[in-house]
Amino acid sequence: MQVRMGSSTTPRLEGRVTRARFLNLDVARRFAYNRAVMVSTGGGLTASTRICAVVGHPVRHSASPAMQNAGIAALGLDWRYVALEVRPEDLGAAIQGAGAMGFIGLNLTVPHKLLAFELVDLLDESAREWGAVNTIRFEGCDAGGGWRPLAEFKTESPREVRAHGFNTDADAIVQSLREDLGLEPRGARVLVLGAGGAGRVAALRLARAGARALFLVNRTRSKAEEVAAAIRQKEPGVEVEVGYPTGGVDLVLNATSAGLGAGDSLPWDPSAFELHQARAVYDMIYRPAETPLLRRAAEAGCRTANGLGMLLYQGAKALELWSGQRAPVEVMREALRGNVYGD
Ligand SMILES: NC(=O)c1ccc[n+]([C@@H]2O[C@H](COP(=O)([O-])OP(=O)(O)OC[C@H]3O[C@@H](n4cnc5c(N)ncnc54)[C@H](OP(=O)(O)O)[C@@H]3O)[C@@H](O)[C@H]2O)c1
Repeated sequence: MQVRMGSSTTPRLEGRVTRARFLNLDVARRFAYNRAVMVSTGGGLTASTRICAVVGHPVRHSASPAMQNAGIAALGLDWRYVALEVRPEDLGAAIQGAGAMGFIGLNLTVPHKLLAFELVDLLDESAREWGAVNTIRFEGCDAGGGWRPLAEFKTESPREVRAHGFNTDADAIVQSLREDLGLEPRGARVLVLGAGGAGRVAALRLARAGARALFLVNRTRSKAEEVAAAIRQKEPGVEVEVGYPTGGVDLVLNATSAGLGAGDSLPWDPSAFELHQARAVYDMIYRPAETPLLRRAAEAGCRTANGLGMLLYQGAKALELWSGQRAPVEVMREALRGNVYGD
């Protein structure tokens, strides 16, 4: 689709789309099930109803609409949250159009997080720090020249709208490790599997949180080396190595996509590292609930958790950024579990 863009906020897209990454469509098809979670909204759609959305390609597997609509309803907001499939080459037009139509905000998922970093009008410190945008809050300029979230514009129209980019993924990892595993990153020795978008953010965030030593393993070794170099530059006090550790670790964190599919290979080499060397294992994958890694980790006596908490906490923070209210985390968790596992 060709979209003509012509305002001062026209996204700077040319030449960037080739770097975007696509989720393999076979992987997307495995998520064909996506249970509807019934939510009482307390009222129907009206001319005042406002929209939020998750934007991805593909996106129809997303559990975010179930989670966010439950949270939105619990807060009594006249908003709806939908999933919109947008190609990378159309992302700039989509962001611009969503702002023009008064959307409250957007979440970005694969393959848009890096691209959105280049396309928003303003980057929050969280997005600058981790180099990716997974949440956009639309903000309007009021009559006094001040910028406020679009959610606060009830009757008046903003003079101008801007897209403000945040990253809520990085903190969600640490929060989920604390809440779901009881693991405090400070002083921890961690083996991180994967050096894609999520692995990079996780390793950098753990380094920032005071991890003592990080061991980075990735199928494509050069990517792990790049992440190691970034950590050495940003967090020189953290010991970082590419490869498996000798001795034990406090945590193994899987940030690869190996384990999403039934026939996937294991995300680590059991001959190089045995799971009983780890106290806890976290898998960012949440569907299936128990990956082969988590099953073996439980058998080896490790504490285990999957990535549902990470998804929950990044979404809860996004809702807080949009609404200015505390997110109803337990309501959102229940909706997420209902959508993903049918609980
Ligand atoms: N729970 C959450 O909220 C949440 C949030 C974000 C991501 N995730 C999950 O985290 C995982 C990674 O996401 P991402 O955004 O980082 O994706 P990505 O940027 O595409 O990176 C994929 C990573 O997986 C590795 N990988 C893929 N297939 C592999 C295999 N067969 N064996 C070993 N390694 C393999 C890749 O290695 P190469 O570099 O060699 O290709 C790369 O490190 C996905 O499973 C995603 O669903 C979960």
